[in-house]
Amino acid sequence: MPKIKDIPKVDRPREKFLKKGPDSLSKSDLLAILLGSGIKGKNVQKLAQQIISKFGKNFLNINISDLLEISGIGQAKALQIVSAISLIKRFYDENSSTDIIIKNLKDVLTLTYDLRDRRKEYLVCLYLDAKNTLIRKEIISVGLLDKALIHPREIFYPAVELNSANIILVHNHPSGDQTPSKKDTEIVKKISQAGEIMGISIIDFIIISEKGNYSFFQKLKDKNNSLDYVADGLQTTLFELSEIEKPFYEVNIQKIDKSYFHFSKYQNTNTFQLQNRRYLGNKYKLLGFIEDIVSEKCNGIKSFCDIFAGTGVVGERFNKPGIEIISNDFLFSNYICLKTFLGISTNNKNVSDKFDYLNSLKAEQDNYFSEHFGNTYFSLENAKKIGTIREEIDKIAESKEEKYILICSLIYAVDKVANTVGHYDAFRKELDMFQPIKLLPPDINYQNNRNNTIYKEDANILIRKINCDVLYIDPPYNSRQYSDSYHLLENLAEWKKPIVEGKAKKMDRSQIKSSYCLKNATQVFEDLITNAKCKHILLSYNNTGDSKDGRSNARISDRNIMRILKNKGEIEIFEKDYKAFTTGKSNSDGNAERIFYCKVY
Ligand SMILES: C[S@@+](CC[C@H](N)C(=O)[O-])C[C@H]1O[C@@H](n2cnc3c(N)ncnc32)[C@H](O)[C@@H]1O
Repeated sequence: MPKIKDIPKVDRPREKFLKKGPDSLSKSDLLAILLGSGIKGKNVQKLAQQIISKFGKNFLNINISDLLEISGIGQAKALQIVSAISLIKRFYDENSSTDIIIKNLKDVLTLTYDLRDRRKEYLVCLYLDAKNTLIRKEIISVGLLDKALIHPREIFYPAVELNSANIILVHNHPSGDQTPSKKDTEIVKKISQAGEIMGISIIDFIIISEKGNYSFFQKLKDKNNSLDYVADGLQTTLFELSEIEKPFYEVNIQKIDKSYFHFSKYQNTNTFQLQNRRYLGNKYKLLGFIEDIVSEKCNGIKSFCDIFAGTGVVGERFNKPGIEIISNDFLFSNYICLKTFLGISTNNKNVSDKFDYLNSLKAEQDNYFSEHFGNTYFSLENAKKIGTIREEIDKIAESKEEKYILICSLIYAVDKVANTVGHYDAFRKELDMFQPIKLLPPDINYQNNRNNTIYKEDANILIRKINCDVLYIDPPYNSRQYSDSYHLLENLAEWKKPIVEGKAKKMDRSQIKSSYCLKNATQVFEDLITNAKCKHILLSYNNTGDSKDGRSNARISDRNIMRILKNKGEIEIFEKDYKAFTTGKSNSDGNAERIFYCKVY
């Protein structure tokens, strides 16, 4: 047996390490450095080789007594090895509890390296927060994985306790083959469905084996898309991915091929009409489609509730004598306009002179509005004028109704001179909107408004207080908050002059976030439907599919919409290709506009 000093210097572990780095060394060479010396008749390299070949893949699980069985290893050396292993494990474990962000499969594998060599089947759960930071790694089961034995409770109970937003499951196949078994697939299905209902995303289910790994996320994800997980509310879940693969309806879809021409009642350039406003997701061009469904399905209606009213165009279409309109939106700027056009039933004669007065105001001084929004969203002159008019409205309005009418007129006028594409997430680079702002009186049909009620409430609170024949539901579909897009109008309507921040000059909007844009959208939708007291439900919800821009992805899956509505009544789906009536341009995603109609039991 050659002594270590008889081995050529270049082949000695320490020298090799110093010259070529740790990656050039075999496992036994690395262990030899740790051991330092051998014993008589067994040099340190031989001793290290013997240990590595005896324990092989189980090396990280060895204990002192295992090591003491090897001749040449005494207590001191055994302690050295086991301490080194424990030290490494400790660092891994500590890392798992402090700000480890899981970005992709590689990050998961680093955290679960030890599963590869286990002789039994394990199911391990990584609980993550909304930013995909690891909160805790937990072993859920040891032994054969069986759908019948794994209850979602075991996975979701800690998730709720830990306030976890996302979950990744990791499972090992001791057989060495990472291909998912039928049982694995059934478990993934069961757990990801449960996650959808709980509002906790199952991001991935990974199978680890000696030969390789299998990630359900990567398998389902479109190859053109990034395979990284996405943090902070935009993550596609396994459930959504499998939905996209198999679009699913259990009812026939009625494709509507009719073209609708929408003439304004009359074009009066001396007034503002309800629809004369740019608003994301407004249904003005779909009114004919909606009206056709209502007249076919809902006979003799006496009340119509537009619970996510936005501009209010849908409610207005049914605003006829004998029909009570309930119109609601949780944004104050929208409420003011809904109140003006659909809620005021007596002519406020005194207000008419005030438009001329406000238009004639001179605005030379800078003010809150011009300081923050001048030369960006508006020309400086218009911004000064808007601020001056808004200040003056509070002084001259003689009643609440007058105030609503004047602010509503200002909101409509502002939209005409805004240097934007129709919302206030950003302003256009080139400022070219210089025409002077002009207030016009709103065109109000006082007669038809007698029975109407306008609300500014969260839809889920309002639903518990009202009854109606038709409930029209048009919530936000994706993670884009309307309070982000219309912060400026909200600021102008409320006129509390808050601090504004960032390039887009947004105020604090934490109190006006819609749950329909968040992960729990499915739950709030289910709550809305469960509590609805009505005869007919019409739901507008777009099939935005798996868009590359995470913000555009629909929050509630078709499967969940169907499940929830089915509990309430009989469903029919009506589809209209938007392209047919948008001057040849498709809507942003080229998908059809859909209405889910539900005849309530
Ligand atoms: C898709 S838009 C409705 C567009 C409307 N149908 C139209 O034609 O103008 C959704 C509206 O719901 C409002 N909204 C969002 N979440 C809400 C909630 N929880 N309660 C009440 N309104 C909400 C938003 O302010 C937005 O105006």
